Amino acid sequence: MTNIYTYTHTTLKQAAETIKNGGLVAFPTETVYGLGANAFNSQAVANIFAAKGRPSFNPLISHIAEIDTLFDLVQTDERVIALAKQFWPGPLTFVLKRKEQNKSLDLVCAGLPTMTIRMPNHPIALDLIRTADVPIAAPSANRSQTISPTTARHVFESLGHKVNMILDGGFCKVGVESTIIDLTTSKTVLLRAGGLAKEDIEKFLNEEVLLSQGNPDLPSSPGQMLKHYAAKLPTRINVKPEDKKDNEFYIGFGNIECNLNLSPSSNLIEAAANLFAYMHLAEEQSEYSSIAISPIPQTGLGLAINDRIRRASYSK
Ligand code: TXA
Ligand code: MG
Repeated sequence: MTNIYTYTHTTLKQAAETIKNGGLVAFPTETVYGLGANAFNSQAVANIFAAKGRPSFNPLISHIAEIDTLFDLVQTDERVIALAKQFWPGPLTFVLKRKEQNKSLDLVCAGLPTMTIRMPNHPIALDLIRTADVPIAAPSANRSQTISPTTARHVFESLGHKVNMILDGGFCKVGVESTIIDLTTSKTVLLRAGGLAKEDIEKFLNEEVLLSQGNPDLPSSPGQMLKHYAAKLPTRINVKPEDKKDNEFYIGFGNIECNLNLSPSSNLIEAAANLFAYMHLAEEQSEYSSIAISPIPQTGLGLAINDRIRRASYSK
C-alpha cells in the first residue's frame, strides 16, 4: 500500500497535523515535490536529512505563505520586498540574513548566518503552510543524488514509507527547482539557475545578476555538488541526432527524431516541465544501457535545464 493521499479537506488537515507534530509530509509545488517538516522543529528537520540520506551540513529552503512572515525570520530591505511582491508566489528563492534570536532554526539553516526562503506557487503547498501555521522546511522529495520528483509516484518510488504522507497534486508545472539568489549583499548573485529565468530578474531590478563563483566541492553553495542530480544510467549531453549511438535512449529537443522529445516546438518552458519526468522514464528503459540528450539553447530556462543535465551526466 502506498502513502499517497488525494488532496481533500480531510487529508490536508491530517497533513498539517503531521507537520505540527514533527512528522514528514511530501507535498507538490510548482517546481518539484518537497519533503516537508516544521522548520522550527530540529528533530523533524533532522528526519528530513535522514530520509534523504543527505549530508546534514546542507541548508534547507523554508517555505512560507505570506510575505509578512519574512519580517519574523530575516532581515529585509526594499529590494527583497520588491522582488517578493513581483515574483512570489513563484519559483524564486532568496538567501537572506537571519534574525539572531531564532536558535530553533539552526539546523534548517545548517548553522549558517543566512536563511533560505521561498513562497511556492501551488494551492496545496500554500494551503498546507497556512494550515500548519509554521514555515515548512523542504528539500526536493527524493533520496540524495537522484533526480528530483515531479509526480507523487516519483516521491513514493524514491522515499517510500520514510515519509508519513505524500499529498498528490499531479504533475509539477515548472518541473525544475527554483532559482536561488543571494540577497545578503548589495549585489544580486545567482546561486542556482532554476524555474525563473535570470533575465526576468535582471529586467525587473534593472541590474545585472552576477553568477556565483561557487566551488563544486563546497556543499554550502546550492546544488553545486556535481553529482547532485545524477541519473542512474550513464548520460551524454549535447548529443546531435547524427552522433547518437544505437544503445542510447535519446531525449531530444526541437524538431528531431528521438525516443522522447522535451519540446518538439523548441519551447524551453515546456522542456523544463518535462525534463525530470523524461529522465525518470529514460532510467526505466531496460533495453537501453545509456542516455543521450540533445543540445539545449543556453538562454532563459535553458540555463537551469543545462545545469541539471550537466549534473545528471557527471561521472567521476
Ligand atoms: O524548487 C525548489 O527549490 C525545491 C522545492 C521543494 O521548493 N526545493 C529544493 O530544495 O530544491 P533543495 O534542498 O533540494 O535545494 C536547495 C539548495 C541546496 O543545494 C542547498 O545547499 C542550497 O539550496 N542552500 C540552501 N540554503 C542555502 C544558504 N543559506 N546558502 C547557500 N546555499 C543554500
Ligand atoms: Mg534537491
